[in-house]
Amino acid sequence: ASNRTFTMIKPDAVGNGHIGAILDKITKSGFKIVALKLTALSADKAGEFYAVHKERGFYADLVKFMTSGPIVAAILEKDNAIEDYRKLIGATDPTKAEAGTIRNLFAKSIDANAVHGSDSDENAEIEGNFFFSAFDRV
Ligand code: CMP
Repeated sequence: ASNRTFTMIKPDAVGNGHIGAILDKITKSGFKIVALKLTALSADKAGEFYAVHKERGFYADLVKFMTSGPIVAAILEKDNAIEDYRKLIGATDPTKAEAGTIRNLFAKSIDANAVHGSDSDENAEIEGNFFFSAFDRV
């Protein structure tokens, strides 16, 4: 199992003042933060990050939403990180996210769903490299 994953706290959760609460939940759930930054995505950058969804109907709205305000990017470390983090954040659609998960607690809709979590080791590596250089990691 992998020991690193990548996450973003999305513009809705940043705008609603949930950065601290979400990072607290992440660290209390046994994840170590190994890289962290507050930044914002241009339309080009958001489009590139979500390029795998280019053909999906929700792509334009997703890119628009992800450029609507600042985001927090982070690399997290824990045994079985990918799977455990996806459990912690809950289903993509917050109405289907289990009680106590980050999306259940902080998300409003499938687009404004508070956080992103990588779905595979390969994507965690790609997504982490998208935001961080070797110098930005501990
Ligand atoms: P995320 O894990 O960041 O990956 C792609 C995002 O697209 C997803 O979270 C949702 O916020 C958004 N999205 C919007 N509509 C859908 C959909 N029908 N299926 C999956 N993702 C969607």
